[in-house]
Amino acid sequence: MDPPTKLLLLVVSLITYAGCALSAIRCPNCGTTPVPYPLSTSSSCGDQDYKIRCDSSGNLHFDTLNNSYPITAINPSSQRLVIKPSSLLPNTCITSDLMSQGIRLNDSLPFNITSSNTIMYMNCTPTLLSSPLNCTSSSLCHVYINGTSNAAPCEDGICCTFRAGGSSTSYMIRVRQSGCRAYTSFVNLNPNLPLNRWGEPGLELQWLSPREPVCGSQADCDRNSTCGPDARESGVRRCFCMSGLLWDPIKGVCAE
Ligand SMILES: *[C@@H]1O[C@H](CO)[C@@H](O)[C@H](O)[C@H]1NC(C)=O
Ligand SMILES: *[C@@H]1O[C@H](CO)[C@@H](O)[C@H](O)[C@H]1NC(C)=O
Ligand SMILES: *[C@@H]1O[C@H](CO)[C@@H](O)[C@H](O)[C@H]1NC(C)=O
Ligand SMILES: *[C@@H]1O[C@H](CO)[C@@H](O)[C@H](O)[C@H]1NC(C)=O
Ligand SMILES: *[C@@H]1O[C@H](CO)[C@@H](O)[C@H](O)[C@H]1NC(C)=O
Ligand SMILES: *[C@@H]1O[C@H](CO)[C@@H](O)[C@H](O)[C@H]1NC(C)=O
Repeated sequence: MDPPTKLLLLVVSLITYAGCALSAIRCPNCGTTPVPYPLSTSSSCGDQDYKIRCDSSGNLHFDTLNNSYPITAINPSSQRLVIKPSSLLPNTCITSDLMSQGIRLNDSLPFNITSSNTIMYMNCTPTLLSSPLNCTSSSLCHVYINGTSNAAPCEDGICCTFRAGGSSTSYMIRVRQSGCRAYTSFVNLNPNLPLNRWGEPGLELQWLSPREPVCGSQADCDRNSTCGPDARESGVRRCFCMSGLLWDPIKGVCAE
């Protein structure tokens, strides 16, 4: 490679690198679905702590520690998104994510499971009966099983219902051989509605407000912010808003 080409490549890679730090940029749509800030589908947009995945068919996915779930809804103003829980393996009462122990979020990332989810555990061992979950014969999970044709294999087992949101369910919906082998979830379920009006299963996640974008130099920040050291994280610099402007974590801009 001749020296000018080498130099050009170096310059290009430096520009690309600077592009990585420039982060208060909304990502392009995934297929036809908007990807609101701070969600990020690539290193050149969004906030890198808020990674989600856009596949080649234009569908969004949320990757957990050991698995991946389709994203079915995103609400940027409430900072929430909904993922589709795993379904039952054919003719069993086992969800397909039993192998990965259900849904396990990385608790170092800014996403958690909201208290709007009604979780139904199915095919549970009798140890669950001594849990604080509602495993009675009137529990809503029986309504679900009774009215859902592919859940027929769950009929004879123990099932339990609870509203998520305790500290033990902020980051995981645990499925395992020695506990419950299947689950489903509904967002904002009104238990007084008949099953045919419950809607599709879903699990709602919430994200923490993003902080100002990370920067390497002033070139990474827009005209309303200054690249400066982060008092809360040593060695990190962020685009802090000019005085008189405030960081809007939903739009990802400095505004009045
Ligand atoms: C989950 O993934 C981690 C590595 O990311 C691995 O060490 C662990 O064994 C996996 N657990 C399950 C239940 O698959
Ligand atoms: C969890 O997220 C943190 C922060 O991004 C990352 O450093 C860590 O490797 C992740 N843990 C696993 C097991 O993926
Ligand atoms: C269990 O749930 C059913 C249906 O929502 C309710 O009627 C019942 O009182 C609950 N039982 C307990 C012990 O919480
Ligand atoms: C189960 O479903 C049938 C009809 O699908 C209904 O007649 C019956 O009342 C249901 N039982 C319970 C316990 O919900
Ligand atoms: C999720 O995180 C938010 C923000 O830190 C917090 O207010 C909320 O209580 C958490 N939810 C759960 C279920 O832990
Ligand atoms: C800077 O702030 C002003 C006042 O809020 C706003 O009108 C303008 O669009 C902002 N510029 C950028 C690049 O965000």
